[in-house]
Amino acid sequence: MIALGADHGGYNLKEAIIVYLKENNIEYTDYGCYSEESVDYAVYAKKVAEAVASGKADKGILCCGTGIGISIAANKVKGIRAAVVTNEFCAEMTRRHNDANILAMGGRVIDAQTAVKLADIFLNTEFEGGRHQRRIDQITKIENGEEL
Ligand code: RB5
Repeated sequence: MIALGADHGGYNLKEAIIVYLKENNIEYTDYGCYSEESVDYAVYAKKVAEAVASGKADKGILCCGTGIGISIAANKVKGIRAAVVTNEFCAEMTRRHNDANILAMGGRVIDAQTAVKLADIFLNTEFEGGRHQRRIDQITKIENGEEL
């Protein structure tokens, strides 16, 4: 299950991603927003991040104007690794090396076609583990206030 969220700046990307998910029979929950009316991105970041952190969703996709604000907010939730991505290389690497569990993108940065391509890569790339797991564990330690 994929958790989706956006503010008004990322609404168009979220809608394009919904079309892609439907076409590919991928289950999703749309946590809003539901129009281009101005809203606050932290609200949607929190809903999606909590769905992913609790295990209700396998991964999340968040969109705002730049992808930055909504990813910063999502990363405040324990267990979340939200990555802002603008190109195919980063979409692949943030799964392979960072085990990112939320993809963040900007509707004022990339077009809808690119966002769908990046979502497709993100959802279909596995984490490599190995030495990268050690680094993820260090991130978790920082989150828990532990020494590295
Ligand atoms: C909203 O105008 C805009 O600030 C927001 O979508 C996002 O880009 C913040 O990082």
